[in-house]
Amino acid sequence: MTNATITGTGFYVPPRVVTNDDLIREFGIETSDEWIQQRTGIRERRFADAGVGSADLALEASKMALDDAGIDARDLDMIIFATLSPEHCFPGSGVYLQDKLGLCAGERIKYVPCLDIRNQCSGFLYGTQVASALIESGQCRRVLLVGAETHSHALDLTTRGRTVASLFGDGAGAAVFCATEEDKGVRGVWLGADGSNADVLAQFIWSIDRFPFVELDEDGWGRIPPQQLFAQMDGKTVFRHAVTKIAGALMQALGETNTKIEDIDLFVLHQANMRINEYVANKLLKVPEHKVVHIIERYGNTTAATIPILLAESVRAGILNPGMKGAWAAFGPGSTWVSAIIDW
Ligand code: ACO
Repeated sequence: MTNATITGTGFYVPPRVVTNDDLIREFGIETSDEWIQQRTGIRERRFADAGVGSADLALEASKMALDDAGIDARDLDMIIFATLSPEHCFPGSGVYLQDKLGLCAGERIKYVPCLDIRNQCSGFLYGTQVASALIESGQCRRVLLVGAETHSHALDLTTRGRTVASLFGDGAGAAVFCATEEDKGVRGVWLGADGSNADVLAQFIWSIDRFPFVELDEDGWGRIPPQQLFAQMDGKTVFRHAVTKIAGALMQALGETNTKIEDIDLFVLHQANMRINEYVANKLLKVPEHKVVHIIERYGNTTAATIPILLAESVRAGILNPGMKGAWAAFGPGSTWVSAIIDW
């Protein structure tokens, strides 16, 4: 039987560190380090410079993952790009990454197919389901899956937008999924969604039911009010849904694979908020603290990139090693949620 396993990981975060105090000093946001740390666990995040987009961050992470896997971009059968901050409304970021990887020019052109996934925080794990299904069904041998976000360029970095602006950061993570006949890899992925909560966390800038879709002035320039321009969030509802759905998704993954919590070596959870993960892991599932890894204090919420960055860092820190059994889970806007059991 052919299994899908991860043979290479990579990550990239932009060099510019923005601490909670920098949000006050540089942007004049009325907040405090204490407020943000107490409610989210975040100390700092990274912001990309102007001129740098999600495909640029993804490129660096992808090069590291390809190098780690010991393959060339031309060996890929598919590129999957998960993001909520794509280069443009369309086309998707996957094709920009493909071009930046040098696949569309020179003597050895390879038109690797590209697929974009728009499931925000659940994007990387929804992508894991797609990548592993493509491999297990024999349609692909090697798939590059990337999660990358440039949140900072579309945040309301004022006191008006502080609830959302204090949470998010920029970064990218990538993984190379390969076919293997060995008894390891992705054991299962469980997906869920509840569209009745679609507006609880959303960015309404593109509202195609409007005619025209943005208000135009007499010169034909678009006029977009801030509540349409920037993401809007009902934080308390998101928190409640995230806790219940992540816990439920993990219970489903464990139940369907007949796995006990003590059989799991590492819990790899989406990094939205330290309190969400503490609630799920400590209070609800009673997971020992050393089995839960987190990076949110250093990078904030990097949405589709949190899990692949966490993986890449954990591998390099010697926390995630061959033979370990992992339980992964994420929750995001939509709402959508997903869990996976993966033998490393
Ligand atoms: N600094 C200081 N004060 C703030 C800040 C801030 N950064 N942000 C909000 N406040 C204020 C509000 O204006 C409000 O003031 P008021 O009472 O005078 O009106 C007060 O703090 C309380 O605001 P709430 O929104 O009720 O604060 P809450 O306790 O719910 O905490 C938080 C907000 C941290 C966002 C919390 O709701 C949360 O963590 N929710 C989950 C959010 C999340 O994880 N989203 C992403 C998940 S999905 C994904 O990853 C894309």
